[in-house]
Amino acid sequence: MTKTLVAFFSASGTTAQVARELSSAIGADLYQIEPEVPYTRADLNWNNRESRSSLEMGDETARPAIVGAPNTSSYDTVFVGFPIWWYVEPRIVDTFLEASDLKGAVVVPFATSGGSGIGQATSRIRSLLPESQVKEGGLLNGRPSSVKIAAWAKGVLK
Ligand SMILES: Cc1cc2nc3c(=O)[nH]c(=O)nc-3n(C[C@H](O)[C@H](O)[C@H](O)COP(=O)(O)O)c2cc1C
Repeated sequence: MTKTLVAFFSASGTTAQVARELSSAIGADLYQIEPEVPYTRADLNWNNRESRSSLEMGDETARPAIVGAPNTSSYDTVFVGFPIWWYVEPRIVDTFLEASDLKGAVVVPFATSGGSGIGQATSRIRSLLPESQVKEGGLLNGRPSSVKIAAWAKGVLK
């Protein structure tokens, strides 16, 4: 029996919707990565070099605090969803990955974006999780149907 988790971070709801669809389509548990300090609209302003997101993304070692401690050790497959920020995963996703026990697990990144791909995020996640089997990620833009999402998930895991 494989046990699957869909963990996600979403600042403005787009990735959250995909994550919910995915978890119900494949019968997986759902876990929201919640920031200890929620992101405001001003925090998300990528045109401002001094905004919180700009400062975090400008610092590879930034690890914004999350609420609670993730318990991923009982899952053998973990989907990890996030918006693309500056071509990669938000640093808060790195906080989650480093706080989780994902040794030996299959990790499947998925993302939504304004058009950028997920490749650079997958590379970073692989370097953060050398003891996990990190699959090529999937970009799930354009409000895909649950049938499409389920087909994608099945394809990734086979
Ligand atoms: C700080 C920040 C940086 C972003 N950087 C990118 C980017 O590099 N490429 C891209 O295609 N979209 C970028 N976006 C757009 C988001 O990836 C996109 O709107 C995503 O669907 C938001 O997901 P969410 O609603 O789950 O937070 C950025 C958004 C924010 C807030």
